[in-house]
Amino acid sequence: MRTLLIAGNWKMNPSTRSEAVALAEAVKAGVGPAADVHVVLCPPAVFLGAVDSVLEGSPIGLGGQNMHWEPAGAYTGELSGAMLVDVGCTHTILGHSERRHGLGETDSQVNAKLKAALAARLIPIVCLGETQEQRLREQTEAVLTTQLSGSLAGITPEEMAGTVLAYEPVWAIGTGLTATPDQAQSAQAFIRGWLAQQFGEATAARVVVQYGGSVKPENAAELLACPDIDGALVGGASLKANDFLAIVGAARDVTTRGG
Ligand code: 13P
Repeated sequence: MRTLLIAGNWKMNPSTRSEAVALAEAVKAGVGPAADVHVVLCPPAVFLGAVDSVLEGSPIGLGGQNMHWEPAGAYTGELSGAMLVDVGCTHTILGHSERRHGLGETDSQVNAKLKAALAARLIPIVCLGETQEQRLREQTEAVLTTQLSGSLAGITPEEMAGTVLAYEPVWAIGTGLTATPDQAQSAQAFIRGWLAQQFGEATAARVVVQYGGSVKPENAAELLACPDIDGALVGGASLKANDFLAIVGAARDVTTRGG
C-alpha cells in the first residue's frame, strides 16, 4: 500500500514570517486531523521553527528544501540533517531541479545528501526530471536512468522503500505547462520499473513517486488518477491555501493505492 503524499514546496516564499504562519494555519485548519493522505509543508529554512509551532497537534509533516551531506563543520550557509530534525522536520527535499540546474548540484552530491538524510532519520524527497531539450531529443528515459542510478547509489532496499521520489519535468516547473497524465504516467512507470530492477518488485511497489510541475486544482485529479502517481510536489499552488487544499482534496478522493 502506498499512501499518497502531497507536499508544498514554498521555495523562497513568502516574504515574512507572519505570512508563513498564516499560510500554515490555513492549511492546518483545512487538512484537519485525518491522516488518510500524507501532507507535508516545506517552507524556507528561516520559517521552519514558526511553521513547526503552528503544525503542533496536526498530522501535517514539515520538510526542509535542502540540506548538506556533512553532519557539522565549516560550511557557511548550510544546514545539517540533525538541525532539520531538531527544528521539527520529518522530511527534506533533495536535488530539486532549481538546485541541479540553477546551482550545479550533481547526482553524487544528491546521493551524499540522501545518505545523510537517511542517517538523520529524515524522509528524503529526491527530485528527478528532464529538461525540455532532453525531452525533445527523446532522452527522457536516459536522463532519468542517470539521475536514478547516481542519486540512489549504495542504498539498501529498506532505505529505498523509505525514500520518496518526485518526478518533476523541468519544462513543467513554474511554466504553467503540465505533463499530460499520459506523459507523467509513462515516466513514473519507467521510474518504478527501474526501481523493480534494482531493488526488487516488492520494494518498488512500496516507493512513493510523486509528480511535480504546475500541479493545480484543475489538473490534480486527472494526474493523481494515474496508477504510478502517488502524490504531488506542489510549488506555486502551495502558496494559496485554498488551491493547496483542493489538491489535498483530490488526493483524498484517491486515498491509498495498493502494491
Ligand atoms: P510549480 O508547481 O510552481 O510548477 O513548481 C513545482 C516544483 O518545482 C515543486 O517542487
